[in-house]
Formats: sequence, C-alpha cells, structure tokens
Amino acid sequence: MPRITVDGRIIEVPAGRTILQALDDTGLLMNGVDVPHYCWHPKLSIDGSCRLCQVEVEGMPKLQIACNTPVQDGMAIRTDSDRVKNAREGVMELLLVNHPLDCPICDQAGECKLQDYAYEYGVDASRSREPRRALQKRKDLGETILLDQERCILCRRCVRFCDEVPKTGEIRVFNRGDRSVIDVYEGFPLDNEYSMNVADICPVGALTTKDFRFKIRVWFLADVPGVCTGCSRGCNVHLGVANNKVYRYVPRRNDEVNETWICDAGRMSYKEIGGGERLRDALVRGDAGLETVGMGAALETAAARLRAVVDARGPGAVVALASPHAGNEDLFTLRRFCAALGVESSGAAVVRGQADGILVTEEKAANAEGARRIGFGDAGPVLEKIRSGSAAAALVMGHDVLHESFLGDADALAGLECLVVLDFEQSALLRVADVLIPVRHAAEKHATLTNHAGRVQRVRPAVEPAWEAWSDGEVLAKLGALLDLEGFDGSYDVRAVSKALAQAIPSFSGASLDAVGDQGRPLAEAGDIAEAGTSA
Ligand code: SF4
Ligand code: SF4
Ligand code: FES
Repeated sequence: MPRITVDGRIIEVPAGRTILQALDDTGLLMNGVDVPHYCWHPKLSIDGSCRLCQVEVEGMPKLQIACNTPVQDGMAIRTDSDRVKNAREGVMELLLVNHPLDCPICDQAGECKLQDYAYEYGVDASRSREPRRALQKRKDLGETILLDQERCILCRRCVRFCDEVPKTGEIRVFNRGDRSVIDVYEGFPLDNEYSMNVADICPVGALTTKDFRFKIRVWFLADVPGVCTGCSRGCNVHLGVANNKVYRYVPRRNDEVNETWICDAGRMSYKEIGGGERLRDALVRGDAGLETVGMGAALETAAARLRAVVDARGPGAVVALASPHAGNEDLFTLRRFCAALGVESSGAAVVRGQADGILVTEEKAANAEGARRIGFGDAGPVLEKIRSGSAAAALVMGHDVLHESFLGDADALAGLECLVVLDFEQSALLRVADVLIPVRHAAEKHATLTNHAGRVQRVRPAVEPAWEAWSDGEVLAKLGALLDLEGFDGSYDVRAVSKALAQAIPSFSGASLDAVGDQGRPLAEAGDIAEAGTSA
C-alpha cells in the first residue's frame, strides 16, 4: 500500500487510486481533509473539468487536480497552502461570473455546493462588467426533473450519470465554449427509472425534482437514516422530516448496498407513509359490518375468536401468514406466537417482479430474506390449507397474499371462521376480515430488516402516526397475552426481542438492533435457516 503525506499527516492508501479517491477510501475527504470538488463523484468516471480540486504536490511545479492525479508511494500533498487557496478562489470567481444571484429563490439553497464553496473561497463582489448569460430557467427535461440552465456549472455529472448508471444517455452538453448548455434532444426526454438521482448529484440548483421542488426549505428538514422498503435491496436513504411528516427520500451512501443511488419508484415510496391508503382505525366485524373500535377491544375480539377456533378444532386449524415487509423482531415474535399457540402451517407471501440489473431486485419486499431466515417459507402450503377448507382461522400480516401470484383477490379468505389482519394499509382484506389492526410502517418504528444479500439493516422512527398504531410485534405480544400463551405477558421491548433473536438464530448473532449501526451488517453465515426460532 502506498504511503502518502497529506498536510503533514501520513496515510496508507490502496494502490492505483487518485488522490481524491484515496482520501475518499480512507474517509478523510471533507472529513478532516478539505478538497472541494464539483465534477468528481465517487461513483462516476473522472471528468477533470471543474478544476476546483487543485492541490500542491511536492516536486511538481504546477498545481495538480486531485481527482485525476494517481497517488504514488512517498507523495507529499498540500491541500491547505496559500497557492491552493488562491487557485480555488480563482475557479470560484470564474464559476460565479455567470451564475445568477438566485439563492433566495433557489430550492437548492441550504444544500448547495456552490453556495458553500462561494462562502468559503468566493469573493464578495464580482469584477465582471458583462451581463450574465440569459438561458432557460424552467426547462422540462421529462416526467421528473426541471432544469435551470443559468444555474448549471457544467460539471457534467448528470451527463455521466445517464451514460454510466442507467446507460440511457439522455442528458448531453450542447454547443461549445461559453455557449455550452445542458439539455436533452427534442423528443428524447429524461426517461429512465433512476432519473431523479441527477438532482441529488447536481452540486447546484440546476436540476430539481418536480416532486420536492418548493415543498419546504431544506434547513427545516431533519435527516433520519432509514431504509427503502420497495424491494429486497433495502437501499439506504435519508428521510427528510419536518412537522411529523416525511417530505422526501434521498439516497444515503452505502457502498455495500446501493452505492449512492436509489430508483425513482423507491424514492417516491415515501408517500405511502402518510398516504390516504393507511389503515388508521382498528376495525371489528359485527352484525352491521365493520365497526371502528379501540385497539384494546379489537385485540380482545381477535383473541376470543381465535380461541373459539382453537377450542373447537384445535390449533392445527389456525394458519399464519407473515409479512415480508415487517421487521425481523416482528417476525420473530410471530414465530414465537405460532409456536406457543400450536400453529402448524405458516409462511410468507413474497411478491416477485422484474429485477433491473442495477438496484431493483426481484422480491418486492424489504425483509423477504429475514422472513425466510426466521423460518417462514413459501406461502403455498398455507394457501393450500385455506383453499382446501382445512384452515378455519388465519392470522395475516400485510396484504401481499392478494397479489395475483397468490390468491388474486380476497374471496378465498371469505370462508374462514376467523380472519385477523395486521396491516399498515387498507386493502380488499377489509371486505372479509373479522378484525383489522393498524400497525406501524418501517419509518415509524425501531426494527431491523434483512436484505436480499443477508445484510441486516436498521430502521428507526422518523415520524409518529397520528392515530393509535403499534408495531406488528407489539400487537402480537398483547394478543399472545390475551390468549394466555406461554412466554407472553403483554409487554414488548424491541431491543430485548432483537437480542433474543440473535441468541436463538445463530446467523443473527452480532446483528441485533443496537449492533448493526447505520450501515448494517451481514448475517454471520449464509444458509442458516432457523430451526429453533421458537425457543426464546
Ligand atoms: S445540470 Fe447540474 S449536474 Fe448537470 S452539468 Fe449542470 S451543474 Fe452539473
Ligand atoms: S432498488 Fe428497491 S430498495 Fe432500492 S430504492 Fe428502489 S425499490 Fe427501494
Ligand atoms: S473535481 Fe477535480 S477537476 Fe473537478
């Protein structure tokens, strides 16, 4: 490993890297060693066009751009000398010659690299007497993105992103020299499944998403680390939260999971958190149909109706469907619940679709792998038991079972004597369920999720539901107590459950809620499906 000196600090870096890459690899870039940069992005090819990253390298007469200068053993670099600062100021002055004085009305203000570096290296007055360029201010690039050409600093990150990640190449630089502009060809709009990432990587306010634009000033947002639940990749995101509302998802870097990207569908899935489709009331079917009741009354009814089936037909007449959207802790509690009640048939309905070879995976649920590891196999045998009439009661988490690849609709469940549903959304199950209990979304609870590659990742409450809702695990803990199940006293401590899971299933050891951190942690070993998931 080459040893280099940066501002007097000796560091070892991997061979074959440029100075910026080496600083990024070691976690020092903008985190102890400030080398401002616009065109360089850790996950895109090197452009070397903005010239802001210049540094002094001992033995080289001219300043070098750190993004495209390979490290060599013994290299001595200065990032904080007067020469370097003068160069940065010069670059900033040139970039600001044509940039509009738009900050008060720019949606990027508060998270704009031009604003940040202008503050640090800019001059407070322009020496230019020429008028600024007048270009298109609200150019529609496609379904998702608007372009302000005047704000663009021509770093070409958006161009390289479209060329290199979705490989659709819609965005291009048109014209040359001081007439260069970013644009798309007429009739070929920005139209790919990852299009909104260009707004994240645009260092200025030139590219903004139509969805988030002018919704809220970013300095009012708290960034809560979380995980997208759109598919089993489990992309890491920041939830932008204010006023107990999630305003956006933006990607959170995790080189082991999603690098620095998320797909557009996953990005927009934040809307389901506060959306109108949420199940907000506990509902119990009476003579007049579904009635809204308190959570306590709903749980008592669920316990009484399940108990009646168990007493009349034995616990083998009860089946359970786990939700692959629920947390590992919720699913482990369901496992214990099933074992204590004597449920013999359980599984998880995991909806499948197309993978795209970039991030999107086949399984459309964030914790499908966790469900398997905790012992919930395919839903097929459970559905067979329901269809054949040998099941009289079902405990169903979520409504993925309604997907056309499973039941297709709710009719097959109508013949059950007792159907208890735990869900965070309304669905056709409202038509046939006896008891419906609202539960929390992954953005509203502490939990871990196991992604497709067996990486356990943590979610935490970003918002509180405006109605009474508990996590699936807490509902099951209370239901278990009402049914007098062994090991259930009605209390639920997610941390204790997480530790119990890590003790009961060896592959989860070291992957409890407090151990996985914000970047997640791989399961201890692959293929370790729970045998004894019921013993804790
Ligand atoms: S629009 Fe943004 S990302 Fe694209 S070249 Fe201009 S400044 Fe860079
Ligand atoms: S790839 Fe999957 S997990 Fe990632 S953002 Fe898209 S839907 Fe969400
Ligand atoms: S970041 Fe190095 S030239 Fe732009």
